[in-house]
Amino acid sequence: MRKKGILITGAAGEIGDAFIKSLAEKDSHALITLDIRPLPSEYAGKVIHVQGDLLDQALLSRLVSEYEITIIYHLAALLSTRAEFTPEAAHKVNVEGTLGLLKLASEQSQWRGEPVLFIFPSSIAAYGMPDLETKARFSHVREWEWNYPVTMYGCNKLYCELLGVYYSEHYRQLASDRPVMLDFRAVRFPGLISAFTVPSGGTSDYGPEMLHAAAQGLPYACFVREDAIIPFMAMPDAVNALLTLANAPAENLSRRVYNVTSFSLTAAEFSERVCHAFPEAQITFKPDLKRQGIVDSWPAGLNDHDAQRDWGWKPAYDIERSFNEYLVPNIRQRYTTPG
Ligand SMILES: NC(=O)c1ccc[n+]([C@@H]2O[C@H](COP(=O)([O-])OP(=O)(O)OC[C@H]3O[C@@H](n4cnc5c(N)ncnc54)[C@H](O)[C@@H]3O)[C@@H](O)[C@H]2O)c1
Repeated sequence: MRKKGILITGAAGEIGDAFIKSLAEKDSHALITLDIRPLPSEYAGKVIHVQGDLLDQALLSRLVSEYEITIIYHLAALLSTRAEFTPEAAHKVNVEGTLGLLKLASEQSQWRGEPVLFIFPSSIAAYGMPDLETKARFSHVREWEWNYPVTMYGCNKLYCELLGVYYSEHYRQLASDRPVMLDFRAVRFPGLISAFTVPSGGTSDYGPEMLHAAAQGLPYACFVREDAIIPFMAMPDAVNALLTLANAPAENLSRRVYNVTSFSLTAAEFSERVCHAFPEAQITFKPDLKRQGIVDSWPAGLNDHDAQRDWGWKPAYDIERSFNEYLVPNIRQRYTTPG
């Protein structure tokens, strides 16, 4: 008999770090983590870490020969800025990697006779606002609006959402028997901010970078204009969104892809909050017009009404709590605690 397990890809990343801490406390299933990078030693004994490439089919086959995978949290990806430097490599990881896992989940659903749950973190990058005037006019976009991404990463996310829906509802639609299909669920996250990890490779990184630089007494040149606006969310809410969506009864869900958000603010407002918390902060604005263009294509805010209605989504950290209770105290402590 195979042991039941939950697979978390990209576990060594920013969300992975917060996510496995939270899941390791709550879940009795074996937690199998997969990442090309090692995991910090603090997780030894709590999870079974497989260091390897998501694209390695032999590795995935070995995993399912040992474990009955019941849930997949597929966090591994190449993020938006990094993906623009190596678009084809990003497509490989983000699309082919996801397709390989969807295939695995689909086969496992047949074996088990019940759906494997497939949880996917999508992004505001799936949207593409054509210009700033439209961005200002449609300030809280719905899931089906403005699905015209301008980055490889955004295209990858949008297509993988569609693949997830396909594998959950239409897979082998011409076969005589309807197969047991997987259960794909996705959230479109805004920019995420963690107090405990520093992001890299994303285009919303200017927010967290400002905070982490200020707390270390380092100068920071923000790569977008002062009026650049996108939505953000504190990392504990992101973890909570993934877990709450995974636990929601299937019959309550009216869609497979949900917006979730907490607060929107401009880069200038972000900087004001950072300067208030760290009065010595040295923040300047030196927009990189190309990265600015990507941020301008992302919506100013998300309408997450459907997530609220269907699975009770509500961020615990609004703007005040995010800065005053989560970000500022923890980041301050991170850089003042010796060792
Ligand atoms: N951080 C954000 O603001 C944000 C916002 C929206 C969506 N997301 C999504 O959430 C997920 C996690 O994001 P994150 O911020 O933790 O990113 P991250 O870059 O910190 O982590 C991604 C992890 O994936 C791993 N990885 C990359 N290619 C791999 C491969 N071929 N095989 C195995 N592992 C591989 C990396 O080593 C890394 O540890 C991603 O899918 C991302 O698109 C993040």
